[in-house]
Amino acid sequence: LGDRSLVVVSNREPYVHEYVEGEPTAERPAGGLVTALDGVVAKTGGTWVAWGSGDADFDPAVAPDGEVAVPPGDSGGDPADDDRPGYTLSRLDLPRRLVENYYYGYSNQVLWPICHLEADPVTVDPAFAPAYREANRRFAERAVAADPDVVWFQDYHLALAPQYVREQRPDARLVQFWHVPWPTPEFFEICPQGTELLRGLLGNDAIGFHLERYAANFRDCVARFVPDAAVTESGTIRYDGRTVETYASPIGVDTERVAANARSDGATHYWDRVTDRYDLDPERSIVLGVDRLDYTKGVIERLDALAHLLETNPGLAGEFTYVQKGTRTREGIPAYRRYYDEVRDRIADLNGAYGTPDWTPVVYIEDDVDDRELAGLYRYADAAVVSSRRDGMNLVAKEFVAAQGQPAPNAGLAQADGLDRSTRNRTPGALVLSRFVGAAESLCPAALSVNPYDVAGFAETIRTALTMDETERRERAASMRASVREDDIDAWLATQTDVLTGESRIAADDD
Ligand code: G6P
Repeated sequence: LGDRSLVVVSNREPYVHEYVEGEPTAERPAGGLVTALDGVVAKTGGTWVAWGSGDADFDPAVAPDGEVAVPPGDSGGDPADDDRPGYTLSRLDLPRRLVENYYYGYSNQVLWPICHLEADPVTVDPAFAPAYREANRRFAERAVAADPDVVWFQDYHLALAPQYVREQRPDARLVQFWHVPWPTPEFFEICPQGTELLRGLLGNDAIGFHLERYAANFRDCVARFVPDAAVTESGTIRYDGRTVETYASPIGVDTERVAANARSDGATHYWDRVTDRYDLDPERSIVLGVDRLDYTKGVIERLDALAHLLETNPGLAGEFTYVQKGTRTREGIPAYRRYYDEVRDRIADLNGAYGTPDWTPVVYIEDDVDDRELAGLYRYADAAVVSSRRDGMNLVAKEFVAAQGQPAPNAGLAQADGLDRSTRNRTPGALVLSRFVGAAESLCPAALSVNPYDVAGFAETIRTALTMDETERRERAASMRASVREDDIDAWLATQTDVLTGESRIAADDD
């Protein structure tokens, strides 16, 4: 970005400070978004504005005046790479009532379900929309106070902030990336504030989505619900005397980093701990699921498919273990608490119905894992299942692919506990992937595609993954790996940098 100053604005912060045994301790929040951005913000310097959500976030010892200087060494990249200036994390101290209504309320009980085409969980409380406006104003004011040349907004929590910043800084370049799907006009119109949200977003110069399909849905919504906006053939929008660009750019993962994590001792040690703790038999295949426990992730559908598989294929009993790594999320929302309980109940039922004294079909893990430990789960699994009912991209699918095909762990470790892992997992694992996930566009057909609502078809596909021969597994994995490498995080960041600098801007006089 040269010497232009960048301000990134996201709801979730890259580091949360929580008191651990009385001491403020920095932790990374769940979800891939902020981790992906951390590296790039550290490279460009600037300011990152986010809600300070941790109980120790405003402890004067860690954040005098709510600001934290994040040095380059803390930024997830190579600490030796000291060309990077680091950045300032500027935390917003938002009142509890406001958080309840804009984050737990409007963002996650109105916008999140609508973007994921889920009408049932949509809850419209009259306090939600005013709080969303108020929170967006506060984010916008903080961004303006940092005197930006370029502002980069993230995601659905901030649909109105661009318009507020535009009013005060008509000269600044404003860009937003929308990390969740954008629904069709038929679905979007259930949102009572639909037109207001679209106008807020049209305060940007450019709006990015993971898939062209989502960008096209957004333009269709603008054409239908913003009468004074004009959508051009080339995909730009004329609005308020300006041109707003829409673009598609699939986010990816840092493939080298995931592979290095998967090869690390930390990965193998964690997997060893898991196998010991749950007494996993190394002869049995491991099927893996890694999810925030969100109803959009299709965990219930997956457990139903596994039950159906065991019901219709008694011969598979004892042949595999399904390992579910779950992360509790958004627990202030009743639908999420119910979902968590439902997942735990389904697992208990499944184990009760099909388990035997020496085989537990489903193992549930809720450990707080770091990147290496997570990569250990990916690496040692024979298959992974991602079955979202709807998902913008889903980075678990891409991380799983990037972690596969590592050489066998070193002999010392293998011998230490008498287990011979020398042959284990040299064949890369298979991926079962919902066709309603953004990642399916590039990973299928090499990944086995499923409709998570089709319980019999889903069960049959898990069986295919479990019984796939080595040659086919290798071929499919090679093809998936090539696509994950091509659309990696660097490719995504390069596109965002072009858009942020205005280099990819479509001619302003285009109509
Ligand atoms: C999704 C959203 C992100 C969000 C993440 C975790 O990936 O697109 O914006 O940060 O979920 O959810 P949370 O509500 O904990 O921020």
